[in-house]
Amino acid sequence: MNIFLVYGGKSAEHDISILSAYSILKEIYYNYYKVTPVFITREGKWLRGEEITDPDQLKSSEDLIINDSGNEMRFNEIPKDNSIVFPVLHGPNGEDGTVQGLLEVLEIPYVGAGVLASATGMDKIISKILFKEAGLPIVPYHEVRVNEWRVHQDVVIEEAEAKLSYPMFIKPSNMGSSVGITQATNREELAQAIVKAFEYDRRVLVEKGIQAREIEVAVLGNEDVNTSVPGELVKEQQFYDYESKYLSNDVVPQIPAELSEDITKTLREYAAKAFMAIDGSGLTRVDFFLTNDNEIYINEVNTFPGFTDFSMYPRLWENTGLAYKDLIEELIQLGLRRFKARQGQALKDR
Ligand SMILES: Nc1ncnc2c1ncn2[C@@H]1O[C@H](COP(=O)(O)OP(=O)(O)O)[C@@H](O)[C@H]1O
Ligand SMILES: [Mg+2]
Repeated sequence: MNIFLVYGGKSAEHDISILSAYSILKEIYYNYYKVTPVFITREGKWLRGEEITDPDQLKSSEDLIINDSGNEMRFNEIPKDNSIVFPVLHGPNGEDGTVQGLLEVLEIPYVGAGVLASATGMDKIISKILFKEAGLPIVPYHEVRVNEWRVHQDVVIEEAEAKLSYPMFIKPSNMGSSVGITQATNREELAQAIVKAFEYDRRVLVEKGIQAREIEVAVLGNEDVNTSVPGELVKEQQFYDYESKYLSNDVVPQIPAELSEDITKTLREYAAKAFMAIDGSGLTRVDFFLTNDNEIYINEVNTFPGFTDFSMYPRLWENTGLAYKDLIEELIQLGLRRFKARQGQALKDR
């Protein structure tokens, strides 16, 4: 079978995507698959690399940065009946349903969440609405649209202050990797933070700041929803930003997180509910806040979380009894089954 592994991309998470792709390429079961690397440049060009049939062909993740502009990817070159696309893309233009939509139109099976789950998972306001509807505890927030802000800044600030207390967190609705997110402790900072968030989206949310531990649960499955043991991001810094997320080592994952059985059970139930609320398939990482008083809030979901062999998502599965290699294989099988189910064979999908 042919795997077309797509990575890189136009988002801020270009580099982490290459690292995730490299880890996956090292561990695919090559006795079943031939892999074609497909690199999306920062400018958005799709380039096709040499076929990989043996992990020793790759010496480092640098080998995945394809420079040859002569090898553009053509989708009609993908053999239809014996191929699957593995989008290893984080953030806008990949984790948000756009690439998934392209693959639906081309009728090519792919790994991971479909269009709807990818798009909702990427949008913080829409996913909150769905989580609330599913009975999950969300962080109190206030939505701001760009038109309101242009016309009535004072009203927006008053409304936010009436609903929420400082510190507040201001975020673009449709982003990732902490881009455009700022904490505000007073009115001036709030106004500045809203302006900054509008650089990235037309919809912004202002959230109540929560002093809490950050706990994550991995979900795997299609109709059968499986959850991992919870893990904790033990951080030195309060605000988990792009720098500490990817570039430095001051966030230490603790797996499993030290939690009571009750809290663990509730978190796993909530993670499964969140996955179903967005109509997830394949994989999702569900991120929670847990306060000192044992209050749980769902913060957000990531339909294609970091996937290097040291990332939280695969490590949660390792600790739940599923090795990295087998996790990759399971995701491929789930992608193929989802494709068949969508071809009108839902009741035969096993
Ligand atoms: N309401 C909040 N209260 C406290 N910290 C927050 C809040 N929202 C976000 N943060 C901090 O900012 C980080 C990034 O925010 P998040 O909503 O997860 O966005 P992203 O999609 O960029 O990961 C979180 O991991 C957390 O450390
Ligand atoms: Mg996050």
